[in-house]
Amino acid sequence: MGAEDRVIWRDGEFIAWADATVHVLAQSLQRGSLAFDYMAVHRPSRGPAVFRVDDHIRRLFNTCGIMGLPIAYEVDELIEATLETVRRNEGARSVRISALFPSVEVELVPQDPHIAVFIAAYDSRKDIIEGKPGKPHFAAELSLKVERVKRSRRHDLIPPQAKVAASYTPSLPAKWQARREGFDDIILLDEHDQLTEAPTSNLFLVTADGTLATPTGEQALRGITRDSVIQIARELGFAVEERSIGVDELDTAREVFMTGTSVGVWPVIRIDGEPVGNGAVGTETARLKARFDAVVAGDVPEFAHWLHPVSQSLERPENPDG
Ligand SMILES: Cc1ncc(COP(=O)(O)O)c(C=O)c1O
Repeated sequence: MGAEDRVIWRDGEFIAWADATVHVLAQSLQRGSLAFDYMAVHRPSRGPAVFRVDDHIRRLFNTCGIMGLPIAYEVDELIEATLETVRRNEGARSVRISALFPSVEVELVPQDPHIAVFIAAYDSRKDIIEGKPGKPHFAAELSLKVERVKRSRRHDLIPPQAKVAASYTPSLPAKWQARREGFDDIILLDEHDQLTEAPTSNLFLVTADGTLATPTGEQALRGITRDSVIQIARELGFAVEERSIGVDELDTAREVFMTGTSVGVWPVIRIDGEPVGNGAVGTETARLKARFDAVVAGDVPEFAHWLHPVSQSLERPENPDG
């Protein structure tokens, strides 16, 4: 199945991939108000499954709540629609759900506040990356730059919990500049020079005493992978701290890694040109990565409930009124 054969859910109907468009003057395109979420489809032996679909859909509703976007669906409706979209798109590896104002507007506050929801399930590599001019950037182990001039993760402007298009606007020039300088990604700071996250992934440090530390949910997006790694790490016996981390702690960290839906656990081996630890993938990072990879492969019964099989609809509680 190629992109041209895929179907996209739009407000309850399936339309062709090529028809899933909005007008160039749509409010969300012009003003950056599109809310979205992005989830992974894994393929354990019992069949394709969406990773923590309910948490992703709840996070979309949270984004809409923060931004005041009047989404007119229930959480369960969009979970069902997501599962159905994956069923109809064979070989899909990820799902992107978008909630936006499609209306052409004059003012910032839309006259027509209808929010349209689109759900696309696809294989990023086959359907999007391949066949495009230019090469995709790839790094199995990361070399990071720390943002030192600007402070791009200002939670007082757009709260990090809002997964909204405009939130990525300050990170784009920062990350692009880092790429031109030969880095893979950039760590964004807040206005108090505390570490936050990279533009699309969360940050973890293994400190000198072996504690796993990550910035708080007020400073960075509460990534679903971040939360999964925290739970997995506790199960493996790690002490985990969600706390403010000053930029200088990077100098003494034994290991650093990033997390995100499309990358899982992603080792960092250089920061600002200097090796992290001994410059190789850290032991604890490798241990957490192996455990996370086993979880998404369906090989860890304690976390099997995170994989929602697409063949299975939501189990609805019995109506107490009969
Ligand atoms: C700003 C930001 N931080 C972190 C993440 C990682 O979150 P998740 O693990 O839910 O993919 C993302 C994901 O796209 C993101 O956009």
